[in-house]
Amino acid sequence: MKIIRTKNYEQMSRKAANIISAQIILKPNSVLGLATGSSPLGAYAQLIEWYKKGDLDFSAVQTVNLDEYIGLTPDQEQSYHRFMYDNLFSQINIDQRNTYIPNACAADLSAECKRYDHLIKSLGGIDLQLLGLGANGHIGFNEPDEIFKKGTHVVHLSLSTREANQRFFSGIEAVPDRAITMGIFDIIQADRVVMVASGANKAEAVRDAFFGPITPKVPASILQFHKDFTLVADDEALSLVGEYI
Ligand code: F6R
Repeated sequence: MKIIRTKNYEQMSRKAANIISAQIILKPNSVLGLATGSSPLGAYAQLIEWYKKGDLDFSAVQTVNLDEYIGLTPDQEQSYHRFMYDNLFSQINIDQRNTYIPNACAADLSAECKRYDHLIKSLGGIDLQLLGLGANGHIGFNEPDEIFKKGTHVVHLSLSTREANQRFFSGIEAVPDRAITMGIFDIIQADRVVMVASGANKAEAVRDAFFGPITPKVPASILQFHKDFTLVADDEALSLVGEYI
C-alpha cells in the first residue's frame, strides 16, 4: 500500500488526476473503474481541464462505474448516471457507448448483477479503479457486513450512508434505501486501485481501514491485500494516523 499525503482537497485531486492521466497516456484504451460522490469531483474537473488543453484523449477509454441507486431513473438529477454525465462524460471526448453503469431500473435485478459482472470480464477487467471511502469504511456500496460480498449485488444502504448522502437530496426520506454495487472481488481484481479521501470526517475510516485488522466490518480494509493500492489523502483525512506514516 502506498500513501500519498497532500495538504488539502485540491492537491489530493491533482495527484489523483495525475495518476489517472498517466494511466490513460500509457494505455489509451484503459478500462477505468469510476466512483461518484464528492471525493472524485476535483479529480474529474482536473481531467476535464487537461482534456480541454489537448493533453488527454478519452476516445478509446472505457469506464465501469461502481454503483447506482435503485429507484432512480438515469435522467434523475441524483442518479449516478446523471452525476457521471454532468461531471465528466459530457465534457470529454469519451464515446458514451463505452461508459457503463449498473442498470438499477432493470426488471430483474439479480440478472442485471450477473450481466454487470460478465461485462467487466468481457472488457478484460479493470486497469485502474478509482474509489472514495465511506465514513463507515464502505467502498462502492459494500457496507460493513459479516462477510465480503464477491460480485455485483443489491445492497440495503445503512442509515449512516443515507444520512451522509442526503446532502444531494431534499432530505433523508428521498435517499433510496437500496443500490446495486460492484462487489469486493470486482474491485480488488482491478490491476491498480486508487482511493481519494479528504476531510476530518474520513479520518476514523482511514485509520480503521488501513491501520487496523482486515475485516468485512470495515470493507475498505481488504485493500491492504491489494498488490497496487494507492491512498491519496489530505492532512485531515490522515489526522489520526499521522504518527505511522
Ligand atoms: C460512490 C461510491 C461511494 C463513495 C463514498 C464516499 O460511487 O461508491 O463509495 O465513494 O460514499 O462518498 P463521498 O466522496 O461523497 O464522501
